[in-house]
Amino acid sequence: MFVGYEYSCILKAFTSNPDSTIVKIQKGLDLYFAVAKDQEIIKELLIRKYKTMAKNEKLLEPLGLFGHNMLTADSTNPIWKKHRVLANPIFSNHAHLKNVFRVTMEELSNMIKYWKDNYDSDAEGNIRNVNTTQELKSITLTVINRVAFGYDIEIFNKSTKHRDEIHQSTTDLLSGIMYKFVFPTWFFEYLPFGIFGKFKKAKNNFRKIAMDMISKKTAEIQKNNEIMEDEDLLSLLMKSSASQNLSDEEKLSDDELVSAMFIIFFAGFETSSTSLNFMLRLLAIHPDVQEKLIEEIDATVESAESMKFEDLTERLPLLNSFIKESFRVKPAVGAVSRTVAKKGGETIGGMHFNEGDQIVFNIMVHHKLSHNNAMDTFKFDRFYQPSDKQDDSSSESSDKGTMGNLTLEFAKDDLASFSLGPRDCLGRRMALIEVKQILVYLLKKYRITVPEHLKEQQAKIKETYIMTRCTFEPFILNFEKRC
Ligand code: HEM
Repeated sequence: MFVGYEYSCILKAFTSNPDSTIVKIQKGLDLYFAVAKDQEIIKELLIRKYKTMAKNEKLLEPLGLFGHNMLTADSTNPIWKKHRVLANPIFSNHAHLKNVFRVTMEELSNMIKYWKDNYDSDAEGNIRNVNTTQELKSITLTVINRVAFGYDIEIFNKSTKHRDEIHQSTTDLLSGIMYKFVFPTWFFEYLPFGIFGKFKKAKNNFRKIAMDMISKKTAEIQKNNEIMEDEDLLSLLMKSSASQNLSDEEKLSDDELVSAMFIIFFAGFETSSTSLNFMLRLLAIHPDVQEKLIEEIDATVESAESMKFEDLTERLPLLNSFIKESFRVKPAVGAVSRTVAKKGGETIGGMHFNEGDQIVFNIMVHHKLSHNNAMDTFKFDRFYQPSDKQDDSSSESSDKGTMGNLTLEFAKDDLASFSLGPRDCLGRRMALIEVKQILVYLLKKYRITVPEHLKEQQAKIKETYIMTRCTFEPFILNFEKRC
């Protein structure tokens, strides 16, 4: 709740001072600076000066559950470089993205069957009162586990009890991390009760599963180090790390692999499910938009099951626009933070900052102020470009080969949902494929509506940011069978 309030204050600071590009925020006894609105200043902070504007490792420590990882380590920390250098080619690889597509397709059909069995469904194929906040987490969780580790959690193949247990241990892990930002570390080591005990259990469980996987894969790799089709990210990472061309320091130890697995797991499901959840709600409350998207999908895709990878990367420009506009109004990650690491201070936007000063790029505020202060006005075709030509001058133009038209470009779109620069989101391509594929699949089969009896209650649900954007109560939606 507090984070959401803090973001509104930053927005107010910017709107009350329309000429400002940097604002100073007093938060209790702390003082920090926030930037938004000005692309050049943001690029200076996140791209040009990324080495002197550091990640605050101390602040991010709770997220380094198994030691520093790609998200928490500063850019000058060899851990970050080593992980990112190994992971970059793997995450941008066409075969990996095709694997995301294949796995998502399989899980989508499992998910629909599961919904039919566990929600109000009828002979016509309608499925009603689906808790999408929970169910979208299930699908992104199962996809990340299969794609990243080759691990099938079978969330749609077993009972709701099994599903709830998986959600519970994930929640124990994630809420424990949140509490780690507040309570001292020893609470988590020595207090055996409540969230502390549950967190410890969930953490040990994660480590055990990860270690088992690593030793199983090590044995397999010793027998055959060739890269196969449909290979999971962990195997690819281990095979790259085992390469003869790398020195021992460049290779990943088992402990480093566990920390990489954790951050891929942590960053890889909640953000995508949150984004999708808001998108489905936006579709349900904008039936006219939904009809236009259905029209486009029907003209391109024959059936949900026959959808092709290229339909996502090369076609459906109106849906691309809808996705971008949804990312604009409901960014899953609200802000990214940097700290001046240079002795004697650093200059950003012509202003001098002292060593240790914190500068936050507030993505949520930037998005609201972008497109001439578009704020929350939802214009689904804001980004529509029938040919969807890309701007080659953008820093993301290297995505063109694999991602076709399915990219977010900071320079052109003025969106920063996945941040930018050398510390941008490693999984952005995977997330975009997954999100678009799930939308096409659902819209090809169903019209999405808000249950009549919940309209009022659902409209009143409050949103905020905790780690990612979230709601205080779940979204519930109906899926009315088309044709
Ligand atoms: C809609 C979905 C997603 C959104 C909105 C999102 C957003 C972001 C943002 C804003 C950052 C920058 C954080 C910072 O600078 O502090 C980031 C970093 C990161 N993301 Fe994502 N993300 C998404 C999905 C994913 C997925 C699916 C994965 C992995 C499979 C992933 C892995 C990572 C990693 C490893 C980093 C750290 C990269 C680095 O610092 O070098 N993300 N993400």
